Amino acid sequence: MFLWVHYADMVIALVQLPVAVVAWWAATGRHSRTSAVAFAVLLGAAVLRVAAGLVLLRWGWEFAGPRLVWVVPALLAAATAHLVWLRPTGRRPGGAGAVAGTAGIVSVAAMAQLAGVGAAAVTGVAIVAASAMGYAYRRLPRRPERAGRWRAAVRAAVGVVAVAAATVGLSMASALPARSSMSGGAVDDGGGAVAGHQHSGGISVTELTGADGGEAAVRRFTLTAQAATVRLDSGAQVAAWTFNGVAPGPQLVVRQGDLVEVTLVNRLPGAGVTVHWHGVDVPNAMDGVAGVTQDAVAPGATFVYRFRASRAGTYWYHSHEMASVQVRRGLFGALVVLPRDVPARQDAVDETVLRHTWGDEDGVATLGLAAGVQRRSVPAGRPVRLRLVNSDGKPATFTVTGAPVRVVAIDGTDVHEPGVLPGARILVGGGARYDVEFTMPDAPVTLRAEGPGIVYSPSGDAGPDRAAKEPALLDPARYGTPAATPFAAGSHFDRRFVLRIDERLGFYDGRPAVRYTLNDASFPDVPMLMVADGDLVEVTYVNRSGQHHPMHLHGHHMLVLSRDGRATTGSPWWVDTLDVGPGETFRVAFRADNPGLWMDHCHDLEHAANGMILHLGYTGVTSPFLTGSGTANHPE
Ligand code: C2O
Ligand code: CU
Repeated sequence: MFLWVHYADMVIALVQLPVAVVAWWAATGRHSRTSAVAFAVLLGAAVLRVAAGLVLLRWGWEFAGPRLVWVVPALLAAATAHLVWLRPTGRRPGGAGAVAGTAGIVSVAAMAQLAGVGAAAVTGVAIVAASAMGYAYRRLPRRPERAGRWRAAVRAAVGVVAVAAATVGLSMASALPARSSMSGGAVDDGGGAVAGHQHSGGISVTELTGADGGEAAVRRFTLTAQAATVRLDSGAQVAAWTFNGVAPGPQLVVRQGDLVEVTLVNRLPGAGVTVHWHGVDVPNAMDGVAGVTQDAVAPGATFVYRFRASRAGTYWYHSHEMASVQVRRGLFGALVVLPRDVPARQDAVDETVLRHTWGDEDGVATLGLAAGVQRRSVPAGRPVRLRLVNSDGKPATFTVTGAPVRVVAIDGTDVHEPGVLPGARILVGGGARYDVEFTMPDAPVTLRAEGPGIVYSPSGDAGPDRAAKEPALLDPARYGTPAATPFAAGSHFDRRFVLRIDERLGFYDGRPAVRYTLNDASFPDVPMLMVADGDLVEVTYVNRSGQHHPMHLHGHHMLVLSRDGRATTGSPWWVDTLDVGPGETFRVAFRADNPGLWMDHCHDLEHAANGMILHLGYTGVTSPFLTGSGTANHPE
């Protein structure tokens, strides 16, 4: 329903533009019939948009407001102009002026809303321009037929030039600076007093390496970024970028508490690379974001990451240099941190299932490298844990049927007292992880992930169960049982931020783009959320767009407080990547206990590459690194 209203409104706004042009053209040319019809269509469209705004009140004022605030004044202006000036014949110059002016107001308002341009300014300009037009046409001679041709030609030329100039202007205005620093720029202090935010001096992110005291690491790995051809089960070859020649990259398995050391070696052809430890709250200097916490590692160079794996769970790693390109090409892998003292049963099956789409967005979806259905042999009675990871940007639905299952962890954090479900159906957002467990029965168990799948059976040759009934969709807000949390919905928050997500048609870095904006801005212009060490922070995500946005905050775990205004009632729901669906509103909270400059972005990496990125900054922390076309760093 939300999607329907959202896109209907957008289409109507798009229709308003050409109709307004026709109305203007017809009115100034004295084509009274056409102008009357176009005018009526414009008014009808405006009424429909008001209706859309009223329907959206159900999702709250955040959703309805922008439509109503834009469209109602435009509609009122149009109606007033109509009543005051326009006569039924439409032949009077004043009437033509009114139509022209009204068309102007409506079209500018429609365009401004789609492009997300500052509301008040544009409305003001539109009204002034429309009045001027109306006045000018009032003063035209009544019978200008002789000059008609010329007039028409001039009108057309002015129109074309105006549209072209506006397009070029908008495109140029969207160009990004060749160099930008995350420790400069606008900040949002969330209503708290942030003393002493510094753009220079203070602590550099490079000093935030954690306190491992230089002791010897217990787990060492080397990840070598290199091009390689990988083969899908269909036989198709993919020219991939890999870690260690395999895709997905090697699974790194460590124990909770281990000091981990990973040496990154770059052997890519002419591209920089980094490694980001997605979901692991590493010290800031180890976060692997090109241009924010380090420079991208150039071909031939190396970089050493060191961090303690203090929380058990399912994580993943990936390049954070040109992430939208490099992750898709294969520069990612799983990181599993086994719990410190629970020894895994020797015979337990523990499998990480990475879902990835190779090629472009409509490429081949696989589990590992298999687009088809894989078969595994598991003796009856064995405990099985599946670690489901979605490395794509779009959410994917995983289903498990054939055995009672429990969803035991979300984003690396255990669910408290997960109930047994007859089967599981889980929407795994981009970058998110869900762990499920079951005991292998005598009959097969089928895992499906929108296409690819795996069948587990004692014999190892069972096919997928196509008759299996779809389990109900898991709602993590109501699953498991409550447990103590270090803070809750009623806590005192030192800072509160609201991030409104919108869908805008326009330009980004000089090219036409659908932008998903955060509070009407795109990277690098979204004000940094400023906090001080120790603050308790609340963030509200309001998704007013028609797409899913898996919002990923680096370096912290967020506790979900409410979804669409309803408090969570199940297990504490901790996330590092929260899928915010169209029309959804989430309130989350986290403790600012890991100083640094942290990226906070949409993990639909296409969206991030179109500007859906902001940062969380701690007072007094600065970065010497730069991003932009004039640098070697392109974290998105
Ligand atoms: Cu998985 Cu900023 O990334
Ligand atoms: Cu997004």
